[in-house]
Amino acid sequence: MENKEAGAPLPVPPREGRLQPTLVLATLSAAFGSAFQYGYNIAVVNTPHKVLKSFYNETYFERHATFMDEQVMLLLWSCTVSMFPLGGLLGSLMVSLLVDRCGRKGALLVNNIFAIIPAILMGASKVAKAFELIIFSRVVLGVCAGISYSALPMYLGELAPKNLRGTVGTMTEVFVIFGVFLAQIFSLQDILGNPTGWPVLLALTGVPALIQLLSLPFFPESPRYTLIQKGDEAAARRALRRLRGCADVEAELEDMRAEAQEERAEGRLSVLNLCAFRPLRWQLLSVVVLMAGQQLSGINAINYYADIIYVSAGVEAAHSQYITVGAGVVNIVMTVISAFLVERLGRRLLLLVGYGICGSACLVLTLALLFQNTVPELSYLGVICVFAYISGHSIGPSPVPSVVRTEIFLQSSRPAAFVVDGAVHWFTNFIVGFVFPSIQVAIGAYSFIIFAGICLLTALYIYLVIPETKGRTFVEINRIFAKRNGVEIPEERKEETSDTGPHTPS
Ligand SMILES: *[C@@H]1O[C@H](CO)[C@@H](O)[C@H](O)[C@H]1NC(C)=O
Repeated sequence: MENKEAGAPLPVPPREGRLQPTLVLATLSAAFGSAFQYGYNIAVVNTPHKVLKSFYNETYFERHATFMDEQVMLLLWSCTVSMFPLGGLLGSLMVSLLVDRCGRKGALLVNNIFAIIPAILMGASKVAKAFELIIFSRVVLGVCAGISYSALPMYLGELAPKNLRGTVGTMTEVFVIFGVFLAQIFSLQDILGNPTGWPVLLALTGVPALIQLLSLPFFPESPRYTLIQKGDEAAARRALRRLRGCADVEAELEDMRAEAQEERAEGRLSVLNLCAFRPLRWQLLSVVVLMAGQQLSGINAINYYADIIYVSAGVEAAHSQYITVGAGVVNIVMTVISAFLVERLGRRLLLLVGYGICGSACLVLTLALLFQNTVPELSYLGVICVFAYISGHSIGPSPVPSVVRTEIFLQSSRPAAFVVDGAVHWFTNFIVGFVFPSIQVAIGAYSFIIFAGICLLTALYIYLVIPETKGRTFVEINRIFAKRNGVEIPEERKEETSDTGPHTPS
């Protein structure tokens, strides 16, 4: 800022924040250590499930001198898979307590325990001949992912300057997908997805946690938390200076103080109060719809079902694991593109386009599955639909909700709101995993029509209700919603938008 040297006049640096090294590294450390857990553990049991099942089977044989029967195996295996989102639900309920007691960064650091212990247990489960260790570890890892999934966007959203909040916010999803992708790579049969490699495969989840435990302490705590919750202005200023890389952070501190002021009028909200609190009604409904839509639009069902679609398209079972990796690449590329587009095109457009693609892909997929017996070429269309669906989902519906949910609440209500939407996220995740297989057995290809319908309804809601939040301060966004909630915010209301609809002036 102050290097106005003699000579050619330097272009005036924009007052907006830029990507400072501290911000980038803090984001990497936090996102790699935390979001990674979620993605990795969602995916890691899918590809090598045969190997793990035969470990269960053999262990059982050694204990009881008889092989496990199908029923018990089915039960144990669904526990192994679904304990993870159930743990996530548990974790999401603990978040608000943790982030308020230990701070955002503190919560992430403490949370690493819940990744490192299960990593050790799973790594040891083969030697210990105990598959119970795996199932138990899945619960704990779920708790870890549940905490991260809420605490991480909160930390990142509060760290980033206004104009980079979207990009930094999508990092959660970017690293979730990166975790999925690494899990898919490592669990290839030739790498670790085999009878000798799997303990290492499962234990690898502890490595990012360890890296975070060693690196994150060197980065600042969320200045918002330090200022508003702790009231420590000097520390907040120091943190902000490091994050912005310049000495003049007073304007931003002023913004935070304004938010603190506005919140003091509101008071702090518990989850129960939040649910009954009229001025936040539409915000709450919006995150619930965004989170439920994200899961109920069937991304996990597509993931689980993908193998069957590939096989019916004539791909050999041994090769379908490589197509899965290909889908993982599409997923990553689209999510990264989305992270950069989210500040240009805005949140609404990405969500609407994403849901449009997903809904259409589900419709076409239904038709392709129905008619592929008469027209064999249609089975390739099925593969294309899966890829289209994954692209569509990773451009909007998966990464953007975690940006929006940070933006539409103020400091006072954010922790409570994160509990609600974290719980919705994990619960719907669990529901899809649990219910989809039976729906699929019952109505076959038509099950994708349900997802198409959910995509359509979610898109409709977004179109009608959710305002564009790009480049606005939290307080401005709050004012837009205040109008919809029919609540007056007493302070000088700048005229945000003249029409009553959600359409925003740009
Ligand atoms: C357990 O292993 C035995 C022997 O390989 C096999 O016959 C049996 O089907 C397996 N049980 C399950 C539930 O996979």
